[in-house]
Amino acid sequence: MARAKTQFVCQNCGTVHSRWAGKCDGCGEWNTIVEDDPTGAVGRGPGKQHKKGKPVALTSLSGDIEDAPRIQTGIAELDRATGGGFVRGSALLVGGDPGIGKSTLLMQAAAALARRSHRVIYVSGEEAVAQIRLRAKRLGAADTDVLLAAETNVEDILATLAQDKRPDLVIIDSIQTLWSDVADSAPGTVTQVRIGTHAMIRFAKKTGAAIVLVGHVTKEGQIAGPRVIEHMVDAVLYFEGDRGHHYRILRTVKNRFGPTDEIGVFEMSDGGLREVSNPSELFLGERNDKAPGAAVFAGIEGTRPILVEVQALVAPSSLGTPRRAVVGWDSARLSMILAVLEAHCGIRLGQHDVYLNVAGGYRISEPAADMAVASALVSSLAGLALPADCVYFGEISLSGAVRPVAHTAQRLKEAEKLGFGQAVFPQGSADLPKGGAGIWKTVNALPDLVASIAGSKVQLDQDDDE
Ligand code: TYD
Ligand code: MG
Repeated sequence: MARAKTQFVCQNCGTVHSRWAGKCDGCGEWNTIVEDDPTGAVGRGPGKQHKKGKPVALTSLSGDIEDAPRIQTGIAELDRATGGGFVRGSALLVGGDPGIGKSTLLMQAAAALARRSHRVIYVSGEEAVAQIRLRAKRLGAADTDVLLAAETNVEDILATLAQDKRPDLVIIDSIQTLWSDVADSAPGTVTQVRIGTHAMIRFAKKTGAAIVLVGHVTKEGQIAGPRVIEHMVDAVLYFEGDRGHHYRILRTVKNRFGPTDEIGVFEMSDGGLREVSNPSELFLGERNDKAPGAAVFAGIEGTRPILVEVQALVAPSSLGTPRRAVVGWDSARLSMILAVLEAHCGIRLGQHDVYLNVAGGYRISEPAADMAVASALVSSLAGLALPADCVYFGEISLSGAVRPVAHTAQRLKEAEKLGFGQAVFPQGSADLPKGGAGIWKTVNALPDLVASIAGSKVQLDQDDDE
């Protein structure tokens, strides 16, 4: 018999290596590779006889579907992110940094569903029953019929779930604590996490229960991250937020049963997570509209418009290599905009430090923010405040042209709703709303935008430097 070979698996991305290395080729993370026993993988094992396959019945696409396929929690922000509620017979992964509020969110969801007389089982491998009860009390959920278990063994969990009536929702907090007798490796390794997940998904498919798996995102790679099971589950949500800020964003990154790029916004309070149904008001909350360097971006997240403030500070640098610091946006994108400003608008920032911040700890992923960023930069450099009631959006190309972006009407409507009377966006934008009350100004290229903000001021300043 061939000697069982050991393999080395990256705990971050699951790439298999034949020997140990400090850095994973797959994802580029350091110190994430650990020795793993390949015989523990699901459905394999050198000792086992190969079983002859047996035919399965083929069926048609049309046919009966059991039950109402979705269970809604009534927490609108959560239902929005899941695409209309948890889907029966599916597995959903909720990932996020430790301490961000995953357990809190799911306890609230469990309580809400239990109040709607669904059978909900919450299995925690991280906290003792007393701790969970304490949290439930804090959340005002102690009086609900959520069934609790503190267990980590996969076989025991499955046996528990198989008792009595089929549950509607099972929450496993977290996948990294699961371990199965099938494999020898320690809990939290890629093998154990995959076996545990696989077992739970099978349970969901077989019984029609909805399964929610919690996964911690880990930087150090000591335990396998949610990445390694993203492909196995039906939907993936990430719970994000800045520790310094109170609100949290639940972001859909994969959904086999609904739209992706949806977000749900929450605020962490003493009594748990509170829904934020109008995020724009939150992100624009403490705005100082007289200061230069602040531009309001009219963004879209999934189907919903969101206004956020982009703040820039451009100041002469005392360093040989000026600083570029970005919070809440892509730093490569900032470099690109600086290069375009320099090449096509004659604005030289080689001797300036540039700081960019998206207010409130929010993260923008849309290229449509380019125009807002450029406006904030120019405004800061010129020392001129932008009009307080103006929003900006549009993509900037390397040629200095500005390109229209999708959902113009929705962005403008949201801006109008929140009292913004002006908007600057690319010429040729489709779906303009009819008869809006605001002053909509379209620009063709970046130099037009710069001229409209600073007139000749920026150019003059630059000449003074020489
Ligand atoms: P938790 O849900 O335990 O995070 P995770 O499961 O993602 O690790 O949330 C932990 C944090 O949330 C903790 O720092 C305390 C805070 N918190 C509140 O501010 N208010 C609350 O009502 C609760 C339950 C937690
Ligand atoms: Mg937790």
